[in-house]
Amino acid sequence: MASTRRILLINGPNLNLLGTREPQIYGSTTLHEIEQAAQTQASSLGLRLSIFQSNHEGAIIDRIHQAAGFSPSLPPPGAATTTGAGADPGTGEGKVSAIIINPGAYTHTSVGIRDALLGTGIPFVEVHVSNVHAREAFRHHSYLSDKAVAVICGLGPFGYSAALEFVGRHMKF
Ligand code: DQA
Repeated sequence: MASTRRILLINGPNLNLLGTREPQIYGSTTLHEIEQAAQTQASSLGLRLSIFQSNHEGAIIDRIHQAAGFSPSLPPPGAATTTGAGADPGTGEGKVSAIIINPGAYTHTSVGIRDALLGTGIPFVEVHVSNVHAREAFRHHSYLSDKAVAVICGLGPFGYSAALEFVGRHMKF
């Protein structure tokens, strides 16, 4: 039998404010509600979901590395080391099959998050609550979209559910 697939949901800066932040743009659903719904949906899809939110670019990059089994403080696999591996002994998470990420404002600025996703090779789906293309010009460019398996924007909180459904039912790993 296939082992349970591990999925990581990452939300970037200011998404912890969902529910009260600019409700005319982002609605009234809180991040906690989104995460709880995602956990329930993941269980019904037979996925193991890890959840992470940070307002810090480096923390998001570290979390992506961890999802691939690397600790920022350890060398990559194959490098000479007495502790062996380079796999992160701390998380016990194992390698994540796919990442669902709403990078928030880092979407439009972060070469670092792009490089972390490309460097680990973990396929990812990019989600935005709002339709970034109907907003200010600086939100029209994403450093991630050309490398994403899919991009979802403008569906509100349902975008996370759509992403999870897609990853669970349609994505080939
Ligand atoms: C966002 C869109 C970004 O432009 C913005 O900076 C966010 C949220 C969205 O979910 O619509 O923080 O990613």
